Amino acid sequence: MTTETVTIILAAGKSTRMKSALPKVLHPVASLPMLGHVLLAVSKLTRQSIVVVGPNMQNVSDYAASIAPDARIAVQREQRGTGDAVRAALPQIEAKAGVALVVFGDTPLVRSETLVEMVEACTPESPVTVLGFLAADPAAYGRLVKDAQGKLTRIVERKDANEEEIAITLCNGGAMAIRLEHLESLIAKLASNNKAGEFYLTDVVEHARAEGLSCSVVEAPEADIQGVNSRADLAAVEQEMQRRLRTRAMANGVTLSDPDTVYLSADTIIGQDVTIGQNVVIGPGVEIASGVTIKPFSHLEGGKIEEGALIGPFARIRPGSEIGRNVHIGNFVETKKAKVEEGAKINHLTYIGDARVGARANIGAGTITCNYDGFNKHFTDIGADAFIGSNSALVAPVKIGDGAYTGSGSVITKDVAADALAVERSKQFEKPGWAAAFRAKHTTKNKAGE
Ligand code: UD1
Ligand code: CA
Repeated sequence: MTTETVTIILAAGKSTRMKSALPKVLHPVASLPMLGHVLLAVSKLTRQSIVVVGPNMQNVSDYAASIAPDARIAVQREQRGTGDAVRAALPQIEAKAGVALVVFGDTPLVRSETLVEMVEACTPESPVTVLGFLAADPAAYGRLVKDAQGKLTRIVERKDANEEEIAITLCNGGAMAIRLEHLESLIAKLASNNKAGEFYLTDVVEHARAEGLSCSVVEAPEADIQGVNSRADLAAVEQEMQRRLRTRAMANGVTLSDPDTVYLSADTIIGQDVTIGQNVVIGPGVEIASGVTIKPFSHLEGGKIEEGALIGPFARIRPGSEIGRNVHIGNFVETKKAKVEEGAKINHLTYIGDARVGARANIGAGTITCNYDGFNKHFTDIGADAFIGSNSALVAPVKIGDGAYTGSGSVITKDVAADALAVERSKQFEKPGWAAAFRAKHTTKNKAGE
């Protein structure tokens, strides 16, 4: 990108239609706040970003700083419209020449390629570029009004449009590129004499034309432009984002048995020849190496799965899990902060938390690491080649030595030496003939009662 670009991200809106205590731009799409998607898209093409936030939006500024430490924050004191929001950013702009690119924090599907195209179309000869799209249902979007020569003359908001204008399907996607040499004067001309009583950024087009400046439109597919104003919009945008992530995974050599039922996160990393079964949900912070199989109905977040591992069906991998090469994690197994080393098997009904499971260890069905005492978490260390009998409770802190066995049903509270067997359960006793006598007694009773 040769043109010097300053990006202004508008995120100060009240978002009343979301009915939420959380600012709209912090609502996640594919586990990443909408603002994160926008910041990542603009990071590729801008030198300076300014995020415009409302007065009580410290959480938005903090989040912006975490994703883009160089981004500046501008506070819009009162939410008086998109034009007013841009005005709030003006004092932060350092560059004198180049392009100001205005994007909305509530439009997370916008592609950086489209934004680059807009910046390139925004030339000294045509100093205003609007992002347009053909809407299947133009609903509340602003309409792009063109003259007889097909040149953009103004943008009219749905509220202020006449019947003829309402019928226009070419709509305003929200983003706008304006040459910096015209930005201040055009923003200064905005007025709030409209139905909403707001300073509309969209009026920049009309003022530019009045000064004899020409305005262009860069069109993008409707799917990229969808804005989020309500929870229903949020769900629609999530679907589109998931569609993109699934398509990308498959293009990279991942088999999705039923793509529509697999949910990924924006930061999911998946290697080649991974197979993911139906109804798998992958939350944030998951890295899956090549050759891994994730069977249906598994839920993963915050974990690393190494080559050749087999996960699920019905497995739950929680944050801090490191699942080693060729490990098997079976049904109804939950791992959390657990390092499971190469070739270990945890196949059924088990909780492994705050623990290490050594290489090739076998964890029997129903094993529980009792890691929490109500106040603190404690560590369980299981050695290589250990064999944990079914239904063992390992009360942490506790260490099972390499190659040791624990008897089924044991509650292990003391360390077990390498290669030893630890059993902790009461002795079995047997009463010969007891069951037959018991049955006989009840059968006679029942007959008598007939
Ligand atoms: C806006 C456009 C409309 C376009 C649509 C595309 C205007 C006047 N209208 O309408 O033409 O079709 O987006 O999605 O620009 N914001 C502030 N401060 C404010 C008001 C808004 O920062 O005072 C921010 C919001 O946080 C949001 C963005 O600007 O990220 C857009 O505001 P919103 O109220 O959602 O505008 P729309 O009604 O959707
Ligand atoms: Ca909007």
